[in-house]
This record gives sequence, C-alpha cells and structure tokens, in this order.
Amino acid sequence: MSLLRIEMLGADVLRQKARAVPAPGPELERLVADMFETMYDAHGIGLAAPQIGRSERLIVVDVKDGDSAPMALLNPVVVEFGEGKDRVEEGCLSIPGVVATVERPASCVVEATDTAGNAVRLEAQGMLSRCLQHEIDHLDGVLFIDRISPIKRKMVLARYRKLAEK
Ligand code: NI
Repeated sequence: MSLLRIEMLGADVLRQKARAVPAPGPELERLVADMFETMYDAHGIGLAAPQIGRSERLIVVDVKDGDSAPMALLNPVVVEFGEGKDRVEEGCLSIPGVVATVERPASCVVEATDTAGNAVRLEAQGMLSRCLQHEIDHLDGVLFIDRISPIKRKMVLARYRKLAEK
C-alpha cells in the first residue's frame, strides 16, 4: 500500500464531474486500499477519488461511529433525502485547517456498488449520512464551502489562505 497525494483547493480535478467507475478488479482493490491508508493517515473520515487526483466515482468512508463498518462505494448515488435537516461542522482534507457549519438533510438513502461488484443500498443517518453526502458531492465537483452562505465562505477562504501562507 502507499500514501496518495491529496489534491488541495484550487486543483481542477476537485471541480470536475467524475466519470463512472467500471467493474471492480485488482487495480481498483489496490486503489481502495491506498485511499483508506491515505484517509487514515490524514485523520479523515471520508475520501473521494477526485481528492487523490482521479476523476472517478469512488469514495471511501469510515465514520467510526460504532455502527457502520468502513466502506468503499463505487458509483454512489443519493436516491432519497430524509425530510429533516441538521447543521453540523464540516471540514475537508482538501481544504485543511478550516471548518464551517453546513446544513444538510439529516438522513439519506444511497445506492452504490461495493468492491465485490454487488449492488448495495444504505439507509444512513447521523454522521454516516453527512459523510456520504459530503463525499458524493466531491464526485460532482461540489465542496462543502459551496453549501454555506457567501459571507461565511469568504471568511472561511480568508482564514484558509492565511493558514496556507504560514
Ligand atoms: Ni471533502
């Protein structure tokens, strides 16, 4: 296994709509293992393939909430959002050092393919729901800073640039 370089805000790949991942295979298994290693090394709870420079619809998630096991999902799609919303502080490994409170649907249903090629359907709540929505956003070139008010975004980006200068 090896650590992958994480792309930072400003990289084009973070803003692209990623393409579907073909059928799983050995190459994909290796990529998934590397993505998990990279995510854990960076103390993240989720990582999307565009963040390591690959514009492909693949995410890994481990919210460590005791209920859900680590998972790698190919071509995940949110097929349903719950009615309730909640507001939780989010960060992103591609925008390190800053966080912002983001409002999202509190629950969602996600359909995807697992690394064995099986169709999976997940009914997610709490941190898992949030993390899945955040990571699936990455596959469409959407970042959490796009989901906060323009004023908050300006503040977060100013702080991020200040940190990046140091
Ligand atoms: Ni992120």
